[in-house]
Amino acid sequence: MRAPGDKSVSHRALMFGGLCVGETTIEGLLEGEDILSTATALRQLGVTAERTGEGAWRVRGVGVGGFREPPDVLDMGNSGTSARLLSGLVASHAFTSFMTGDASLRRRPMMRVIEPLSRMGARFVAREGGRLPMAITGAEVMLPIEYRLPVASAQVKSAILLAGLNTPGETTVIEPEPTRDHTERMLEGFGAVVRTSTLADGARAITIVGQPELAGNRHIVVPGDPSSAAFAVVAAAIRPGSDVTVENVGINPTRAGLYESLRDMGASLDFLNRRKMGGELVADIRVRGSALRAADVPPDRAPSMIDEYPVLAVAAACAEGTTRMQGVAELRAKESDRLASVAAGLAANGVCFEIGPDFLHVHGMGGAVPGGGLVTTHLDHRIAMSFLVLGLAARNPVAVDDGAPINTSFPGFVALMNGLGARITAG
Ligand code: S3P
Repeated sequence: MRAPGDKSVSHRALMFGGLCVGETTIEGLLEGEDILSTATALRQLGVTAERTGEGAWRVRGVGVGGFREPPDVLDMGNSGTSARLLSGLVASHAFTSFMTGDASLRRRPMMRVIEPLSRMGARFVAREGGRLPMAITGAEVMLPIEYRLPVASAQVKSAILLAGLNTPGETTVIEPEPTRDHTERMLEGFGAVVRTSTLADGARAITIVGQPELAGNRHIVVPGDPSSAAFAVVAAAIRPGSDVTVENVGINPTRAGLYESLRDMGASLDFLNRRKMGGELVADIRVRGSALRAADVPPDRAPSMIDEYPVLAVAAACAEGTTRMQGVAELRAKESDRLASVAAGLAANGVCFEIGPDFLHVHGMGGAVPGGGLVTTHLDHRIAMSFLVLGLAARNPVAVDDGAPINTSFPGFVALMNGLGARITAG
């Protein structure tokens, strides 16, 4: 199978295309609901974004600082990446935007972007605890800042760097732990000056030089999403006898933690045909099903697999022994409280675990799990897909209460999985 386009790269391709003067063409764009939320918001800000074929888009940008006041509320749907990155972008424009999202996004913390963007001069009025809906009034002239990230978050890093794009001078983000670096890579590809250095304490400093003219007429090829490929890879890994190759998977080291963890668990994974695509490393991943053993997943691996813990928990449920995932409090701030959602899903399917504020220990069954449970997805696509994968290794069918959220990141998931031999039905 071929992995669908990378969600993080797709958001950025549309947004940065919207900041160029001239036209950007995109190939392999993920056409999930999250990306469509970004496209709709960009149109409200004055960008022209047109679909010209399957995964093929043409974006006509307005230039850095060229957004217009949106005529209506920006509705980000389920997408935290749209909300946080676009907050950074509109914060550096001297108009007021109103932003909201679905019930899941309205529960998620926005203070992590409100705080640094306020220091740069933007003003926010949000609900209690820094939740959406919120109003953002950009400053006439933003102030460059140097900001050390209190949470390992590529969304927060990107929000600040994007605000820095339309800010005179140099804006610096310091990240104690490396997070996905698609923003830096792609902005450089568009001709922005981005400097990265390692500080004495090992943290990484990323500096953007403000107010560049971004080069138009670029063609972006979006690599496949390692976070989506993860479902097929784990499905094959937990079914002895499987042999699946997922083509075209991004293997940027800031995203590849799941694959390291699966190898620690004894999974048979081969990265074939390594190559570069649109500035990102990709490979075809061949996975063969085998018996898995438990492994410890260290906290410093979390940023590179932050979206993959639910599906790793599924692999852990089938492995021999106790898999310990540590330092994962950030999972509580995702589309759902993923520590709680995963724990509830495991419990419903007869898998034992221990859970704490920032850890999950899964006691593997060394093979098939009892299954038979109904899992509550809480508007969380990755919870839905992970537990459907668990069904492949369950003695009784596993059900999820809502399959609709899958479309946010992986339209076609059910057909692809059924094509590999799964039996997923809607009922
Ligand atoms: C993303 C960053 C991650 C990830 C999300 C996409 C991005 O969030 O969970 O799905 O595209 O920058 P955080 O950086 O907030 O952990």
